[in-house]
Amino acid sequence: MTNQNLLDLNSLQELPESHAWSSLDNSPSYGSSSPDQVPVINLNDPNAMKLVGHACKTWGVFQVTNHGVPTNLLEEMEDAGRKLFALPIQQKLQAARAPNGVSGYGVARISSFFPKLMWSEGFTIVGSPYEHAHKLWPNYYSQFCDVVEEYKKEMNKLAQRLMLLMLGSLGVTMDDVKWASIQGSTAALQLNSYPACPDPDRAMGLAAHTDSTLLTILHQSNTSGLQAHKEGTGWVTIPPMHRALVVNVGDLLHILSNGLYTSVLHRAMVNRTQHRFSVAYLYGPPSNIQISPLSKLTDKVHPPLYRPVTWSEYLGAKAKHFNKALSTVRLCA
Ligand code: SIN
Ligand code: FE2
Repeated sequence: MTNQNLLDLNSLQELPESHAWSSLDNSPSYGSSSPDQVPVINLNDPNAMKLVGHACKTWGVFQVTNHGVPTNLLEEMEDAGRKLFALPIQQKLQAARAPNGVSGYGVARISSFFPKLMWSEGFTIVGSPYEHAHKLWPNYYSQFCDVVEEYKKEMNKLAQRLMLLMLGSLGVTMDDVKWASIQGSTAALQLNSYPACPDPDRAMGLAAHTDSTLLTILHQSNTSGLQAHKEGTGWVTIPPMHRALVVNVGDLLHILSNGLYTSVLHRAMVNRTQHRFSVAYLYGPPSNIQISPLSKLTDKVHPPLYRPVTWSEYLGAKAKHFNKALSTVRLCA
C-alpha cells in the first residue's frame, strides 16, 4: 500500500468509499456491554505470576498497573506523538516510509492485506528515530528523539519483567531460554493516530490482527477504541485506564509456549468526536534466533506443534498468509 493512499483524514467531512467498510466487516458487537472483562493485574501483587499466566491462557491480553514506567514518560511520549501527527500532511510525508521500508510515516502497516483503507495514520520507529525526526522538525527533533529513547529503555525493562512472569508461570526459567536473558532483543515502536471520523460505524481504525511479536505493550490515550476478541464472547472493549498499560501475547510467544498462550486477535475502532492515539512497543527475539516450542513444554503427549522460525521468517509467512501464519508454521503431527 503506497503513500498515495494517505489522505489527510483530519480534513475530510465525509467517509470516502475507499475507507467505507461493510457492516459485515465491522461486527455489530461493537460496544457490547459484555460482563467478561480483560483482566487488570497489579504487578506488585504477590500472585502476579499466576495471574499473568492465567490471563495469557484465557485472553492473550491483560492490563498492568504498578508496572514501573513513570507516568510523566507515558504523557511525554503521547504528547510527542500528538505533535507529530498534528503536523501538516505535506510535512509528515517528508518522513514517509520508503516503499519497502519499515520506519517512517504511513498508512497502517497491515493495510495491504485488506480491501479497504483504515481510518488511521502511523509512524514506525525501528532503531534510531533521528533521520525521520530531523526531516519532520529541524528544531524540535532532539527532544523527540530523547523521549523515544527513554521510552524504549523503560519498555524494554518492562518487557523483560513480563517475559519472566509469563514464562515463569509455565515453569520455564531464563536459563531455559538463554537468548531471552536481556541482550539482543529486537524492538520497534509504533505510534498510531485515529482522527475523529465523520462516519465511525462504517470505518475501521485498525482491522483485526494478531501481533507478530513475542509480546506488545500498548499505551492508549484516554479514548476507547481498542477491542480484543475472545472465543465464545466476541469483541470486548479494553477501556483506557489512567497509568495502566495493555499487554498482548504475540504470535512468537504463542509458538514458544507451544500454543499454551494464545496470541490475541484485536482491532481499533474510531469515533465521531475524539482523536485517539496509541503507542505500541513491539518486542521480539534477537534477529538470528529461531523460535520453537520450548523443550520443557513438550513431550510424547504434547509434541511440538510449530517448526522453528526466526522473526523475519515468521513475518515472511505472515505476509503470504495473513491471519493464517500460525497454521502455516504448524508441524504436521
Ligand atoms: C495496535 O494493535 O497496534 C494498536 C491498537 C490500538 O491502537 O489500540
Ligand atoms: Fe496490534
